[in-house]
Parts: sequence; structure tokens; C-alpha cells
Amino acid sequence: MQIFQDKQSLIQALKEIKAAGKSIGFVPTMGALHDGHISLVRSALQVTDQVVVSIFVNPTQFNTASDLDKYPRTLQADIALLQKEGDIFVFAPAVSEIYPEDDFFGPFDLEGIDLVMEGKFRPGHFQGVVHVVRNLFQIVQPQKAFFGLKDFQQVAVIRLMTKKLALPIEIVACAIERSTNGLALSSRNLRLSETQKEDALILFQTLALLKKLKKEFSPAVSREKAMEFFKKGKLELEYLEIVSSETLEALDQTWSESSTCCIAAFCGEVRLIDTAQL
Ligand code: PAF
Repeated sequence: MQIFQDKQSLIQALKEIKAAGKSIGFVPTMGALHDGHISLVRSALQVTDQVVVSIFVNPTQFNTASDLDKYPRTLQADIALLQKEGDIFVFAPAVSEIYPEDDFFGPFDLEGIDLVMEGKFRPGHFQGVVHVVRNLFQIVQPQKAFFGLKDFQQVAVIRLMTKKLALPIEIVACAIERSTNGLALSSRNLRLSETQKEDALILFQTLALLKKLKKEFSPAVSREKAMEFFKKGKLELEYLEIVSSETLEALDQTWSESSTCCIAAFCGEVRLIDTAQL
């Protein structure tokens, strides 16, 4: 394993890898790594020659200073976990490496898919995400980049950005990793008590219920019934939307060929999201 803090030395090392005809796989993360991240790393290791994992808590995608402050930072533990996986390049830069003074990034037109669901409740969040991912892609220039489907909308946003910038990078979306009782793995789970982890199972249970409701009811009715069920639990619902997996448009009377439900809710102070294809 090699650890890079400055981008020039990473770029130099990757130049040599590329000159040897090897492919680069990239797993961008904000650290506090868990089995979900490790499964992305393993997918990358299977199909590319050199895997780069970035660990960078991106300030521009947080909506409040306190959420940014509270985001778990566990660099030494992250490095120890990655060490077990193989000969990985870890990129753990300072903010000034990613956002140099001459960095320009105007508002990026995401055709409205950044304004619904997460975007509605976290204004500017996806502009921050595309900014950091664009800058990371410029540094790493991978052939393939790996993202978890728990952040379903993020995957759609990054795919669109990659297409609009005509970047020669394949975006690989990987399945959600869950604990045995169904809780989607997330770095934010570190902030949950054991009781809260139990309470948070309502997210998965609601998604499971929706899969059944879909067989009988329209999206609108299924959504109403799912929200009713969710509200019996202890989490505070922010949104529950059923959307077309392709366009992210909310579905009303008819199911689309591929439909996805996205939920965001507060468990105490911790904001959790979950999603499932229905
Ligand atoms: O999914 C995340 O952890 C972040 O949004 C990402 C893609 C690493 C960008 O900061």
C-alpha cells in the first residue's frame, strides 16, 4: 500500500502505472470506511490493475458546519482496513490539494435531477459532489470509478456529469451492503446507539413493504401506505419518494419499467438515507 497526501506524487505514480499499460480503478470515499466501502474496493480490485481509494471529507457538500464537524474521521483505522485488501494507493489530501486557488467550477447544469429528493432538502449538495468528483477524476483519471447504490441519486448525478463532460470513465454502481438485519451500512451509523440502530430498521422494513404494495397498488397509493407505516416508527421522515430509476421523476398512477424508492429520515440527530429498486 502507498499513501499519498499531495496530488503531484499520486499523479506521478499513476503515470508509471499507465505507462506500463495497466488500468486504474477509483473508489472515492469520505473515510470512516465500513464493509460497504470494502465491497466497492473488492469490485475495483477484481476488474482493474491498480486501485486508488481517496479519503477526503469534502466540505462543499455539507449543508451545515455542524454536520461537517460531526462527520466521523478515522484515517488510521481506514488505512488498516485497506491494508488488508491489497496493494492499494490511498489518496488522503488536504483541502488545498483538491481546491487550489485557481480552481474554477461554475454551477453545473444537472438538468434538475439535483433539485429533487436529496437536492430539495440539501440545497447545493450535488453541486459540491460534482465539484469534488470532477476534481478527483482530473487527478486520478481512472478507467472505472465505483460508487455505492445507497446513494442512488448521487450515482445518477455523477453519471450525468461524466456524460456531459465526455469523460472516458465508466461509472460502476455497486449493490448496497446491509447488516444481517437489513440496516444499510453507512459511515453515519457510527453515530447511532444500539437502540437507534434497531429503530433505524424501519427504513429497510418500509422498502420491503413497498415491494409488496407495488403488486397491488399504484405508486401514489403505495407511497401513502408506506408513509403511514413509516410514521409508526421512531424516525422523523424527511421524504419518501417513488421515482423512475431513469429520469428520477416522481411516479403517480403508473409504475415505470424500473422504479426506485428513496427515503431520508432523522434518527435522533443523525440523517439516514436508504433506497431500493422496486
Ligand atoms: O459518497 C461519498 O462518500 C461522497 O459523496 C463522495 C462521492 C466521496 C464525494 O465526496
